[in-house]
Amino acid sequence: MSNGGLILGIESSCDETAAAIVRGGRELVSSVVASQIATHSPYGGVVPELASREHLRNVLPVTRAALARAGLSYAELDAIAVTSGPGLAGALLTGLSFAKALAWALGKPLIAVNHIEGHIHAVLLEQRQKSADAMEFPVLALVVSGGHTHLFLAWQQGELWRYENVGHTRDDAAGEAFDKVAKLLGLGYPGGPIIDRLAKHGDPRAVSFTFAQLKHQARHEPKRSGIIREGEHQPERRRFDFSYSGIKTAVLRYVELNGMFEQIAERRRALLKFEKPTTEDLLRHCDRRTLDLISSFQAAMAGDLTRRTLAACEEFGVRTLLVSGGVAANSALRASLEAKAPQSGVAVHFPSLAMSTDNAAMIAAAGYSKWMAGEFAGLELTAEANLQLR
Ligand code: KG4
Ligand code: ZN
Repeated sequence: MSNGGLILGIESSCDETAAAIVRGGRELVSSVVASQIATHSPYGGVVPELASREHLRNVLPVTRAALARAGLSYAELDAIAVTSGPGLAGALLTGLSFAKALAWALGKPLIAVNHIEGHIHAVLLEQRQKSADAMEFPVLALVVSGGHTHLFLAWQQGELWRYENVGHTRDDAAGEAFDKVAKLLGLGYPGGPIIDRLAKHGDPRAVSFTFAQLKHQARHEPKRSGIIREGEHQPERRRFDFSYSGIKTAVLRYVELNGMFEQIAERRRALLKFEKPTTEDLLRHCDRRTLDLISSFQAAMAGDLTRRTLAACEEFGVRTLLVSGGVAANSALRASLEAKAPQSGVAVHFPSLAMSTDNAAMIAAAGYSKWMAGEFAGLELTAEANLQLR
């Protein structure tokens, strides 16, 4: 007997160990996230081996906590959904092995979820809670995080969601650019939230940045139905790719030209003594030029993501835009898309801040449509570091 699609989600693809319970793809019952920021911050980035060990330590306690907060027992669950990729192989394997063991021991179905699909479902989960109105199609999803910058057209086929990639980064992900620029400026890890806080104190027009004009070659893409009959032409799709390694180099050049290295080294040393510096701690160690640079960098990133995403919306006649992933928490990106998308007739939806970054509620929510469709994984399921979404 089912409990209305009561799904336990497990997420361990990068540096958060998370467990959550979602009922029916819409009711968030409980969500627990153990962050590893303190473990990785001395290294200025995620150390894969340390991440796997931390997941191993945390996966059982976070799962127990998610069940305890929900007041539920393992026996009441309808299925276990787990992130099978993309992500760090060792990190993924920890959560995956745990979920497989749990599913086998409990005799419950196991559901494999793509982490990127999870981010898209973070927005869908919260939208279902806010409004009963049906979403207008076509839907475009911008997934923008530390590891990904992707544009997907998304549609429903029966219970299941299907996706077609119409743009991705050709080099660094947007969140990676935030993290690398913050590291370069001696600001700590992860860089996105720190830059977001400091950017409000600088002039976003002080430094101008330009982005590569990427040639959006029309490529042969599979039809939405995925079925191409013999002799039939595949439709050509315009691509909307991104590139964020150039802006990092431009920031480095600005730092060199303006002789800022000594001051950066001093800032790095001074901030080492804080486990979690407040905005005031950070501001005390940043001069006007640094704040203007940070603010201009953030404005340039938000502007480029907005321009390319809205160009794709126009090309595909998109009515609904879903923005998710860690960088969806960025205040400048939210403000810019919220101001500009409605001008193009596009309704834009963001997840709450807690649901923007990695969590397991999004994995449980994404698992629901697969549970409804009976799309279960076997115990031979394994982690795929480069798993594609389609
Ligand atoms: O989705 P997420 O938790 O993990 C990945 O799947 O990558 O995203 C983490 C990324 C990091 O690069 C972090 O710096 C960035 O999201 N991030 C932000 C903000 N909050 C998190 N970037 C810009 N502004 C923010 N407020
Ligand atoms: Zn993520």
